[in-house]
Amino acid sequence: MSNENDMVTVTLRVHRFTPRAERENRRSSNPFARKSSPFGDSGARRRTRGKQWTQDYTLQVRPEDTLLDCLLTVKRTLDPTLAFRYSCGHGMCGSDAVAINGTPTLLCTSPVSAWVRQGGVDGEAAGDDPAGDSAADDANDGFRRTGDALFNLPVSHVPKPAANAEPGVIELSPLPGFPVQRDLIADIDPMLDQIRKLKPYLQAKGELKTTPDGKVNVFEYLQSPAELAKYEMLTNCIACGVCEGSCPVFAGGDAFIGPAALIAASRFVNDSRDGKALERMDQIDTADGVAACQSVRACGRQCPRGIDVGEEMWQIIAKVRER
Ligand code: SF4
Ligand code: FES
Repeated sequence: MSNENDMVTVTLRVHRFTPRAERENRRSSNPFARKSSPFGDSGARRRTRGKQWTQDYTLQVRPEDTLLDCLLTVKRTLDPTLAFRYSCGHGMCGSDAVAINGTPTLLCTSPVSAWVRQGGVDGEAAGDDPAGDSAADDANDGFRRTGDALFNLPVSHVPKPAANAEPGVIELSPLPGFPVQRDLIADIDPMLDQIRKLKPYLQAKGELKTTPDGKVNVFEYLQSPAELAKYEMLTNCIACGVCEGSCPVFAGGDAFIGPAALIAASRFVNDSRDGKALERMDQIDTADGVAACQSVRACGRQCPRGIDVGEEMWQIIAKVRER
């Protein structure tokens, strides 16, 4: 149990957005409105118009509280109009990805102490190493393992807060690269659409096993541990969109299907049971597929499931070129 002395003061600076009423956004009410783009329907989404502002919420929290805990406190005690999305609260569903101090990551695996500049958290509450930048963390490949107790996975790599960051202030904005629906809720449908197009399910022919008396018993999909190891890590992807929000090329998925979709494709290309590897590789061998990747490798820095997205992308690109 923490006592009052453990509490620290932190200000959440939240980028807010309220869309205009549907009626005002609808073009069909204007008989002179253009019905379609002269460049064809690329599937690009129009930006919703509305009111934007930033709002500060100052509250007393424990340094180990997550930013999701903080937002829930704000919602319950200060401002019920604040909108954000979450579900599991434990880094499993991927629904609460936002940008914290400009870095895409999950709210529920981000403790206050890791994101606030020291000095703003009333003394030593943030510790001597608010960014998780200690020798101990260096020994952990730069990953801050706040969620290890739960998943034994590196939860997020926390960058050092900028030296000029305002002490005690944590800035929250919606996940970059996606249209904003309201406040911290981004519309991740462009990413999910791209993943769906790549048929992210096993397309395998199982071996029919029969009982000694000739009756159909079961279909078997056998795989060795070595074959499983080739794609097992990729099954950890929770489609949170953090890699897409970190990718400077993705920006809504119009020119690039994005790292999350390529991870989904790679997961099945590397699965020895799947019979469609060649078709899958054909499908991503396009101008907006592997060819659009600029190898910036920003995509892997914050993956909350510990996937080295940049390396996986590199490998699937090499595989597509070699086939
Ligand atoms: S690869 Fe990692 S960052 Fe990208 S969508 Fe999957 S879990 Fe999220
Ligand atoms: S709420 Fe499910 S991953 Fe954060």
